[in-house]
Amino acid sequence: MHNIKLWDEMAHGIFNTSCPVEIHPGAEDNILIAHPAIWKIIKANFDDTRDLDVLDFGTGTGGFAKELAENGYRLTATDTSREMVAMAKKRNIPGATFIYGGLSHIPKKSSYDLIVSIMVFQFIRNAAAVLSRLYKHLNNKGLLIIAVHNKKYIDECLNQNYKFIKTGDPALLHIKFDNGSMFPLFERTTEEYQSIFEDQLGMQKCTVTEPPFTAEYIRKYAGHSREPMQVPKYLILGYKKI
Ligand SMILES: C[S@@+](CC[C@H](N)C(=O)[O-])C[C@H]1O[C@@H](n2cnc3c(N)ncnc32)[C@H](O)[C@@H]1O
Repeated sequence: MHNIKLWDEMAHGIFNTSCPVEIHPGAEDNILIAHPAIWKIIKANFDDTRDLDVLDFGTGTGGFAKELAENGYRLTATDTSREMVAMAKKRNIPGATFIYGGLSHIPKKSSYDLIVSIMVFQFIRNAAAVLSRLYKHLNNKGLLIIAVHNKKYIDECLNQNYKFIKTGDPALLHIKFDNGSMFPLFERTTEEYQSIFEDQLGMQKCTVTEPPFTAEYIRKYAGHSREPMQVPKYLILGYKKI
């Protein structure tokens, strides 16, 4: 409950990616680095990208949801923060359904061709259980794509005493955002995520990628950002239900 309140506050700050405020560099990296990499996976896996039912799980203020809807997808987007959903709704995305809530608020019988979840699963303690619930909402040959913090990036930040703070539990860190908000974050290796998709869910690997900081991001923020731009910030995994 406590974290939900903090995400509510973030909706009006760093994660407000809608106009007219300037986008924070800690949110713009999603747009400049993660989104293009995710589109590449989507386009490589669907011939007709318009006729798809799509779920954006943990949509935040709806930045990627907007891109999905603009591409003609039938979009449902969820988030456990009421404020995030309110901000996403303000984008007035035609035909989009925004749901305030978690897994249990996704309509039981709904199924999707594509489920995306960007920078959400590192905040979820039991990622395997939640992914397996999402898997049940996936059509056959459906694609599940998640983006999370890359362990290499987290470890480099820890080396530099930046952004992440160790706790007594090696799997549990705290992430400290620029506004001072701290969230628990569960550090997992690529292999741990792959094992959930492959061994537990029996899914087929499409892409596992670590997109680097793009030239555009580096040009914009090098010099006034402490981000360790030499290591990939994102780990993006795309898996198909077979
Ligand atoms: C770092 S933000 C990312 C938002 C958005 N996907 C983006 O890329 O801009 C993480 C989001 O996950 C949401 N979240 C955290 N735990 C969640 C859960 N169990 N179910 C759904 N959303 C969750 C938070 O409310 C927050 O909006």
